[in-house]
Amino acid sequence: MLEQIANELENLKNEAVAAIEAAKSTAELAELDIKYLGRKGSFAAYMSRMKDLSNEERPAFGKIVNEAKTAVSAALSDKRIALLIAEDTAKLQKDKIDVTLPGRFATLGSIHPTSAALREISDIFLRLGFTIEEGPDVEDEWHNFDALNIPDTHPARDVQDTFFVKSPKEVAESGNKILMRTHTSPVQARTMEKQQPPIRFIAPGRVYRNERIDASHYTIFHQIEGLYVDKNVTFAQLKGTLMNFAKIYYGPQASIRLRPGFFPFTEPSAEVDITCTVCGGKGCSVCKGTGWVEVLGAGMVHPNVFKAAGYTDPDITGFAFGLGVERLAILKYRIDDIRLFYENDIRFLEQFI
Ligand code: FA5
Repeated sequence: MLEQIANELENLKNEAVAAIEAAKSTAELAELDIKYLGRKGSFAAYMSRMKDLSNEERPAFGKIVNEAKTAVSAALSDKRIALLIAEDTAKLQKDKIDVTLPGRFATLGSIHPTSAALREISDIFLRLGFTIEEGPDVEDEWHNFDALNIPDTHPARDVQDTFFVKSPKEVAESGNKILMRTHTSPVQARTMEKQQPPIRFIAPGRVYRNERIDASHYTIFHQIEGLYVDKNVTFAQLKGTLMNFAKIYYGPQASIRLRPGFFPFTEPSAEVDITCTVCGGKGCSVCKGTGWVEVLGAGMVHPNVFKAAGYTDPDITGFAFGLGVERLAILKYRIDDIRLFYENDIRFLEQFI
């Protein structure tokens, strides 16, 4: 009897080991584990045969069963390791990456040079004690011209120079024409309307002019207006402020030059030139051989502007200036054409990353 069981067990072991050897996956192996060694598996079924044996035969039977099970267990674990390695290797092959391939670079966005210049110039005036005011791009005739002492006959009011916005209803209601502001100076009028001195602000923004476009003129450009109104503000303070600005923006070698100018809203008025940074003042094509480039207009606030704002205190004086942002940036970055700011050619913009 024992001999017969031993033979059957030997066959069962051989069958199990052969099936294990032939298994193709760890999942198949798990099924074989249950089939042969599980609680209701083939080897467990043999344990019920114990009762047919004599007491003397039982220890030998136990030994034979254990040896067969141990052999199947060992075969299972060897095969499991082999299959795991094979499955891992296949997965690695499938997910293989070539670490020597060059990486793909994401294209980086950057601040537009106009925005960068607006921020940099504004920051300088903030450090010099100015605050920031804003005004609308679509402006009325009163704030853009009348409140600034610009007479009815001034050529700037002409459609040749100004973009008027058709709004017959508004014109009929107020008699006040609507236009795209031609400069940031209306922010002076708007701020003085609602605030009493002392006032010290800058007003950065976009302005619009019906002009012929060339290397230094565009129909849309940016200005930064400055206004300082208080008791006994002087022309020397205006010059000092602009000189400080030029040295911070362009470096200590930069200087400014004031030439007599004319603006209806300032008296006296000045055109302000800055040392040509392209040639360092020696004279080049950018400065047309003069060593200086005109970048802003300035002056002492005209009494009629104070009158329009309702300021009556005779001790109140003030200075104002309006600078061209693109012109300043052109000089700083040696850009030879203002149109580049509006074409948005990626090769130009990339240089400011
Ligand atoms: C004015 O616009 C005055 N409002 C400035 C001012 C303010 C004077 C306060 C006194 C007191 P002007 O037209 O000169 O002035 O323009 C000022 C600056 O804007 C110029 O110096 C120049 O740098 C820039 N600018 C003028 N026209 C253009 C244009 N078409 N394209 C680009 N920049 C321009």
